Amino acid sequence: MCGIYGHIKKNGEENSVLVCLEGLRQLEYRGYDSAGIAGIVAGNIVSYKAVGKVSHLDAIVQASPRELDIAIAHTRWATHGGVTTENAHPHFDQNLNVALVHNGIVENYLTLRTFLEKKGIQFSSDTDTEVITQLIAYYYQGDFVKSVRKALSYIEGSFAIACIHKDYPDTILAAVHARPLIIGICHKTGDVFLSSDTNAFMGRSLDIFYLHDDEIAAISRERTEVYNKKGRKLTKITERMALENQKISKEGFDHFLLKEIYEQPTTIRRTLTGRLDSNKELPIFEELTVTDDFLKGISQIKILACGSSYHAGYIAKHLFEAYAKILTHVEIASEARYTDFITTKETLVIAISQSGETADTIAAVQNAKRNGATTISICNVERSSLSRESDSTLLLHAGPEISVCSTKAFTSQLTLLSLFAIKLGYLKGLAKNKVKELLSELALLPSAIEKVLRLESQIQSNSEKYAGYSDFFFIGRKHMFATALESSLKLKEISYLNANGYPAGEMKHGHIALISKNFPTVAFCGNSETLDKLLSNLMEIKARGGPILAFAPLSAQEIETIADDTLYLPETPDWLAPIPYAVAGQLFAYHIAKIHGTDIDQPRNLAKSVTVE
Ligand code: M6R
Repeated sequence: MCGIYGHIKKNGEENSVLVCLEGLRQLEYRGYDSAGIAGIVAGNIVSYKAVGKVSHLDAIVQASPRELDIAIAHTRWATHGGVTTENAHPHFDQNLNVALVHNGIVENYLTLRTFLEKKGIQFSSDTDTEVITQLIAYYYQGDFVKSVRKALSYIEGSFAIACIHKDYPDTILAAVHARPLIIGICHKTGDVFLSSDTNAFMGRSLDIFYLHDDEIAAISRERTEVYNKKGRKLTKITERMALENQKISKEGFDHFLLKEIYEQPTTIRRTLTGRLDSNKELPIFEELTVTDDFLKGISQIKILACGSSYHAGYIAKHLFEAYAKILTHVEIASEARYTDFITTKETLVIAISQSGETADTIAAVQNAKRNGATTISICNVERSSLSRESDSTLLLHAGPEISVCSTKAFTSQLTLLSLFAIKLGYLKGLAKNKVKELLSELALLPSAIEKVLRLESQIQSNSEKYAGYSDFFFIGRKHMFATALESSLKLKEISYLNANGYPAGEMKHGHIALISKNFPTVAFCGNSETLDKLLSNLMEIKARGGPILAFAPLSAQEIETIADDTLYLPETPDWLAPIPYAVAGQLFAYHIAKIHGTDIDQPRNLAKSVTVE
């Protein structure tokens, strides 16, 4: 996680401190434990640091404003060392010659720290990052680039860094290994910007390029030079990027999360737009670079993802198997990256990631590629690192998801995966009238979600009733199993309550031991094929005094004799039910979190993109 930003002023008029503050606001989704900025004034390194969000740093800057022409900046998600000012980036060497910001993890930091301490070097933080800073200063003999190259040659792990040296008052050095960093030059002013994410360049028209592994960029007012590991100068091709300023606002909602929940009928429509042929009878994916011939020959699919994206993949597995008859495995990316990835020429790997920056998902795709798989990524963010790793990318078009807790990206992932399963089904011989039937069911999704949104006050009443419990089970079967997992994750991450999902059939294998009057179960009853089985499970919970809240279709009225509380959701075919049921689960979690007064959009300990292992 962590976000890096930097600015060098040439002919522009902006103060580097304010430019960096704005950049950090755009990168805050990457971590909000602390933030900091460093620059050079009259040959000395100066800095600002604050624990907490960028707004805290802003207040410190306002209290003692400075005009800087060069600055590096950072927003932190703590890995090594607590959330303190000392551990906030930028970090310095003991003589305050070098300042450095870092995204990634130095795996051998203890060995390096011990080495430096034996040389008498004093550390002032608990971070792995300070080791890089001190090492650069230790090797510095008048050539900044050389000292950075030498120091980095000892680093094991991943990094994107930006650093300054007081002897080089108009230069930022930047380098990466397995972490993104983009450099942008304003073609009007010559000002240079660097960032962990192109979206933080919003509102600027820049010529950009990506730093690749083990390259070092020396960026100054006069020129930007890039060297490879051996010190050979490289020519980088730039692309012009003009991202319009997007007004990011809550639009009257109390939280981004609620706004994004309400956006879902629209975002789902956007995911579907342009993805049907002119007769609206077949799915089309114009951006796909893998051919239909290849897709026709696929014999297995491996889905790689983390968190909510994994849940979307798990639900999609049923669709690939039901409609395309393709054996599908879903793997948590942090596990898949270390497996012996068994692929054949007929294996398709689908990586799902809202951000496209999740380190484990990227590494799992790299593992798949090393083993010869063809890879398609499903992302919400354009130009993400994952897209650049994949053979082809399908974009969700759900718009920026600001809340750390994923909602609209999840339902757009499911929508896109459903459409893709229908396409594969068609290529594999699914009857044209079945394809038509599935597409017409898919088209009804936005209105099904609108119906769920109209139930918000009923869902809120139930949240009020259940907010006092501290432990929850979420259960479902088949399509509703991963829906239950997803809903339990929502509750966990924004309310900090203990919520665990499991497939209802597993109940008697252990979970039931926890059932008591203090341990409610939220049951997702939207899978008609397995409803009877689920009802039996609920009877068994009821018999042991466990409170039950059921989300169920109107046709399942018998649920009232079992559940303590029932929320009726629109009738939806089993294969699509995860989408409206997930929306109900989002609203339930939201209202419980609101009662608990948590930081709903930026819950403690989390970050929107998990860019470290
Ligand atoms: O950007 P990604 O989809 O790769 O992110 C994966 C998970 O980190 C993410 O879904 C996380 O679980 C969310 N906070 C869930 O709301």
